[in-house]
Amino acid sequence: MTSRFSPLVDRIASDGADGWAVHSMAMAAQERGEDVIVLSVGDPDFPTPEPIIDAAVGALRAGDTHYASIQGRAPLRDAVAADMAARTGVDFTADNVIITSGTQGALVEASLCLLGPGDEVVALEPMYLTYEATLCIGGATLISVAQPASNGFRPDIEAIAAAITPATKAIAITSPNNPTGVILRHDELEAIAALARAHDLWVISDEVYGDLIFDGEHIPMASLPGMAERTVTVTSLSKSHAMTGWRVGWAIGPADLVSHMETLQLNINYGISGFVQSAALEAMVSYRSASNDMRDAYRRRRDIAAAVLAESSAIDVLVPEAGMYVMINVERVAESGKAFAEQLYADKRVSVIDANAFGPAAAGWVRVSFTIGDEQLAEGCRRIIDFVDA
Ligand SMILES: Cc1ncc(COP(=O)(O)O)c(C=O)c1O
Repeated sequence: MTSRFSPLVDRIASDGADGWAVHSMAMAAQERGEDVIVLSVGDPDFPTPEPIIDAAVGALRAGDTHYASIQGRAPLRDAVAADMAARTGVDFTADNVIITSGTQGALVEASLCLLGPGDEVVALEPMYLTYEATLCIGGATLISVAQPASNGFRPDIEAIAAAITPATKAIAITSPNNPTGVILRHDELEAIAALARAHDLWVISDEVYGDLIFDGEHIPMASLPGMAERTVTVTSLSKSHAMTGWRVGWAIGPADLVSHMETLQLNINYGISGFVQSAALEAMVSYRSASNDMRDAYRRRRDIAAAVLAESSAIDVLVPEAGMYVMINVERVAESGKAFAEQLYADKRVSVIDANAFGPAAAGWVRVSFTIGDEQLAEGCRRIIDFVDA
């Protein structure tokens, strides 16, 4: 026996864990009831809206406790397809939709159905922590392309073009981005789309923050000419409806890809729980506007955080266009984002994430989440300023 485990275990082992040490300490301290301010989570603090919970409870009481459709129930897929059709102008139908275990489930299934050994996938960095493992899970190689901080982490199209080789099979994008809050503009999306069309590539487009837009507009990649047939869009209700724990999202893409993902899902989890799908349907049909309330609350918090953090000239703040995070450059006050996060926590009991965990393009930055109430957020940011100025 050469190894007790499959080669997969090496492919999914990434070294992002280091970035979470401060967060884990802060969460443990919070559980002990200590005075800590946690600005390191990506989980909305809002409860899931009541009507959505009622839909799930009602479904359970009505006996919805059996296997559900593996691809997802038709009314929910219809609702998702209609929503995406309205956003893109593309004639999506239920055949283009599979209901998954969150965006993460959609990402891993898309990755496994699109990318195998010998393939390369170009991804824009900084990128969400799981991408490294998720995009390589089937044996593909991740080609990470830095989007320079000096340009506000906006896409470097020349660098993306230069990363494409005959082995490239897909480009992975996240708009709006976690951690930077950058929304890809139409010209940037079009430049990436042109590369995808020219080199016959797939685009894996993570749009999980697509409803939490403060400035500008979110443009789905699939809305660009010739892109619906080569784009798989992954998203969920996690952020838009404060439903992280429900684990429900979807992929929208060409019907043949969706059909392969369905076969994969049959083997992985046999589909998403029916009562969870009932809740998701309620969110999509009767409660779509909930995301507007969330967006307004996050925008207010973004403004609070930006205003307090602007009080020190020793740090630079990248005010996000979307999402739930603000990035701070701490290069002038600390030797690294990690050192800053550790010392800030030790001195002020505020936890932030060393953004280097999202890739070296974000080295020297930390990510501050605004997933807590206004007052605590302001207090946390004030402690950051006190720490910086000391
Ligand atoms: C960019 C990005 N993609 C995917 C996810 C996973 O989301 P979900 O809860 O829908 O699986 C997250 C969660 O933070 C994220 O930030």
